[in-house]
Amino acid sequence: MPATIVLGAQWGDEGKGRVVDYFAEGADYVVRYQGGNNAGHTIIVGDQRIALSLIPSGIHYPGCVPVIASGTVIDPKVLIAEMDMLAGLGFDPARVRISSNAHLIMPYHRKLDAAIERYLGRNQIGTTKRGIGPAYTDKYARFGIRVQDLFDPKIFAEKVEAGLRDKNKVLPRVYNTLPMDPVEVAAEYLSYADRLRPHVTDTSLLLWEALTEGRVVLFEGAQGTLLDIDHGTYPFVTSSNPTAGGAVVGAGIGPRMIDEVVGVAKAYISRVGTGPFPTELHDEVGDRLIELGGEYGTVTGRRRRCGWLDLLALRYAARVNGLTRVFLTKLDILSAFETIKVAVGYHSSEGSFTEFPAQQSVLYHCEPEYAELPGWGTDISGAREIEDLPGNARAYIEFVAETVGVPVGWVSVGPERSQLVTVT
Ligand code: GDP
Ligand code: IMO
Ligand code: MG
Repeated sequence: MPATIVLGAQWGDEGKGRVVDYFAEGADYVVRYQGGNNAGHTIIVGDQRIALSLIPSGIHYPGCVPVIASGTVIDPKVLIAEMDMLAGLGFDPARVRISSNAHLIMPYHRKLDAAIERYLGRNQIGTTKRGIGPAYTDKYARFGIRVQDLFDPKIFAEKVEAGLRDKNKVLPRVYNTLPMDPVEVAAEYLSYADRLRPHVTDTSLLLWEALTEGRVVLFEGAQGTLLDIDHGTYPFVTSSNPTAGGAVVGAGIGPRMIDEVVGVAKAYISRVGTGPFPTELHDEVGDRLIELGGEYGTVTGRRRRCGWLDLLALRYAARVNGLTRVFLTKLDILSAFETIKVAVGYHSSEGSFTEFPAQQSVLYHCEPEYAELPGWGTDISGAREIEDLPGNARAYIEFVAETVGVPVGWVSVGPERSQLVTVT
């Protein structure tokens, strides 16, 4: 798999970190192409549990270069802290490559993110409050400040001043919060420049050279398909494109370079923050999924909303990403259930649906129609070969593949690196 995109096929937290960690063993580069430190990817290496938010999984393989590409938004303080954390664990962050075109998350973006959420009240999105939305807003409004600007102190100070000019009116007058001093903000950020300088490069050129030399490159999505700004459940989405198209735009490579697109999906589904969620469970089954699956946010610690696997949503993800294979995670969590449900249709006052509805109001009001599959009633966390899985678990995997129309390539049966089964 020379150039493979690994992305979330649901609302995030599908287990992308552990999947990328698995593939990264044979990779020369692992590339984050969008998002910022709103992501929380947990990987387990031996007895170490590592939570990454910005640096792609793969950092702990000495032969693998982690790349933070142009489509991302970077909070430099967080990035430096993450590099220090990794160095403390014995991994060498010197290899990290950062695009000079990536945008910076500024302190006023964080402040605005929190203020806007407060202002929205009941209608809030439930963002991670990391400043992601306001940073991308400035990027598209062409007020953004990029990594490369850090290396020209005069221009940088001017851009901060310009960036704060309107915000210093909006912060107190609209959001009832204090304005910020552009001189202080610029001074803080310029103090990060020397530390970041050795990592900053033209990552599009780096990746083009790597791909034309036949190197193995993995593109790691953050968030998930249903959180995509264009194809997700807008407006309850993030402000970037986690979908496959986002990988080529965000990394600065051509679509013909991509060989495989792997969609990571949990064997059930979860969502953090607000927004429609047809298969959400508000009963003790949902509570069990949350407790057994340890469904608490890596970044914010928030309890994740959980429900049965939604195959309309997964088929939608297969379509908008052109998935070539699915990686089904956390199959072990379903071992506790006698009967397992999967949504195969929706119905509402507007009719019946077998495809994920494009109309948000439909999604809000529809009820799922479930297929019920028998559970397997036994611990599968020790399975390593397809033959180790009980017949009902294999039937579950086949049902998913057939309904979605994409082969399930792998399933994982526990959080550790070795706890997975190759299916096809
Ligand atoms: P990501 O954001 O997509 O990388 O996913 P997160 O790391 O936020 O959440 C996935 C969680 O599930 C992490 O705590 C993983 O350690 C854990 N996990 C991943 N795969 C499996 C699995 O197959 N079984 C179990 N039990 N846990 C898993
Ligand atoms: P990983 O990469 C799950 C959600 C937030 C909120 C919405 C917008 O770990 O899968 P933002 O801060 O991005 O403006 O918030 O998106 N969200 C995630 N949910 N996993 C994530 O990342 C998420 N990143 C953002 O909860 O609903
Ligand atoms: Mg996560």
